[in-house]
Amino acid sequence: MKATAKAPANIAFIKYWGKRNESLRIPMNSSISMNLSEVFTTTSVEFSKEYIDDALVINGNTVDGKEKERVSEFLDRIRKISKVKLNAKVVSKNNFPKGTGMASSASGFAALTLATTKALGLNLSEKELSILARLGSGSACRSIPDGIVEWKSGKQSNFSYAYSLYPPDYWDIQDVILIIGEKDKKISSTEGHALVESSPFYKSRIAKMDTKIRDIKKALKEKDFTKFGQIIEEEAVNMHAVMMTSKPGLFYWLPETLKFMLLVQNWRDNGVESYFTIDAGPNIHIICEGKSVNKLMKKIKELKGIKNAIVNKPSIGARLID
Ligand code: DP6
Repeated sequence: MKATAKAPANIAFIKYWGKRNESLRIPMNSSISMNLSEVFTTTSVEFSKEYIDDALVINGNTVDGKEKERVSEFLDRIRKISKVKLNAKVVSKNNFPKGTGMASSASGFAALTLATTKALGLNLSEKELSILARLGSGSACRSIPDGIVEWKSGKQSNFSYAYSLYPPDYWDIQDVILIIGEKDKKISSTEGHALVESSPFYKSRIAKMDTKIRDIKKALKEKDFTKFGQIIEEEAVNMHAVMMTSKPGLFYWLPETLKFMLLVQNWRDNGVESYFTIDAGPNIHIICEGKSVNKLMKKIKELKGIKNAIVNKPSIGARLID
């Protein structure tokens, strides 16, 4: 009873920050993201009566404590559906740093969902897989379908899932991730979500979400990169303003993050059209069209202090592998 799955990380253009229901991870607003071709998690799950407990190995290290508990609780949900009581060994590998706002939990829980359900002989639809992945980590539901994805907030669990808006080859937009910090963040996204109501700006953020979603969908439909870029950049800053003004304030940026935000704007004024977005971490995602990526990389390479730059195209979602 073993299966292996690979799932991409995703970058949110319109962010998920704040939950309507914490334990079911039902978000306050819908979000829109793109799956990433070069950052992913590969996870094998094996159930056996030989195992006296669940075991979790991430990047070669055995993991205990809270993180293992979260995975075990997630496995329990699927064990319950399939009526199997066996323990499991989960072996997971990320090809990128964990806990740095690169949605390691998104690709992790998406791969875990697909591998676990398959290992237990369940053949679920994409929608069912997305709902299950969401229960592990909200943003993981967006790593199940292909390409550019919308997660419809829904008000109940069965209506809160992601689906593909466009396949990966719809539009050649790319995400150049600059790795600025690789340390685990002090406050996890799950803890951060729980603080949103304490920001005085949160209500006004939520009030404008439907319009923002409508506008970005229009920009996507028309492949209007300028409009699209303006929306995503403003959206990232808006989410971070809520983070910084919650109590306690959450500051995920490092000085280099701000440096690159300003550089991207400067490059844009000088003919390299790109826009930034940032998740719950210091790394910066620079979004550009395929035709600009070489010029952008030339600019990046001229600078010092960048540990790593990863160029991503839109990707397919989670898949089983041999
Ligand atoms: C800032 O999906 O990691 O990346 O549901 O508690 O696991 P949990 O949160 P998580 O939150 C992601 C927040 C974000 C924005 C986004 O990806 O939409």
